[in-house]
Amino acid sequence: MTISTMRSKYTALQISLHWLVFILVVVAYCAMELRGFAPRSYRPLINSLHFFCGISVLILMVSRLLVRIVYRAPPIVPKPHPAMTGLSHLAHTLIYLLFICLPLLGFISLYYRGSEWQVFGIPMPFRTEPDEDVEYSLKSWHALLANAGYFLVAIHAAGALVHHYFIKDNTLLRMMPGKDKRHSR
Ligand code: HEM
Ligand code: HEM
Repeated sequence: MTISTMRSKYTALQISLHWLVFILVVVAYCAMELRGFAPRSYRPLINSLHFFCGISVLILMVSRLLVRIVYRAPPIVPKPHPAMTGLSHLAHTLIYLLFICLPLLGFISLYYRGSEWQVFGIPMPFRTEPDEDVEYSLKSWHALLANAGYFLVAIHAAGALVHHYFIKDNTLLRMMPGKDKRHSR
């Protein structure tokens, strides 16, 4: 890509995927955190919703990583301190890793539970021999990573807002829907 056509924003595909994943992550968390408020008979539906959103996050985060290899991040103007750029790269790497491992752990724990489970009626794979120890430890890791996810996303979102309202650069606008005004240098 030549400088005259350098993007000032992420691509429309990256922006759509970012905010779609955001919604799915919120729904996956809400399904688990708020399930106690719903009548017991809603439990299979709420679980299906959790599994569906989680599996979608897994697929979309892997897709995002692949898309990210093709399209580089657009430059932040004015350029942040290199230490800040380093920290943000670290945070993004951790977010990718966490939101790939977290749903995988959930999926594999259900596999080891060794009993039938479905996502909105679609049967999912499970082991014929249940292994409660493995199931329990995978579930604990799932719960631990889910808690870590809260912190990571909170720091990530706070960082984006600090850039926008205090440093007043284009970090957040690069991830917002709308027309890409390319740099014409
Ligand atoms: C974005 C992805 C996901 C997030 C944020 C997430 C979050 C959570 C949270 C917060 C809990 C409650 C943990 C606790 O008991 O303290 C939970 C439980 C659970 N999740 Fe996930 N999860 C995700 C993906 C998945 C996927 C893909 C599956 C399986 C297909 C799954 C299966 C489970 C199971 C089996 C439990 C335990 C439910 C129970 O105790 O009855 N999760 N998850
Ligand atoms: C209110 C919530 C959120 C806000 C305001 C926000 C904002 C942003 C912004 C401005 C960027 C671009 C940062 C940069 O290029 O330096 C970004 C990137 C990113 N966001 Fe978020 N985000 C939010 C929630 C989430 C959630 C829930 C996830 C979880 C999966 C997520 C995952 C990512 C990833 C992986 C990147 C790096 C993209 C890349 O360069 O490959 N974000 N976000």
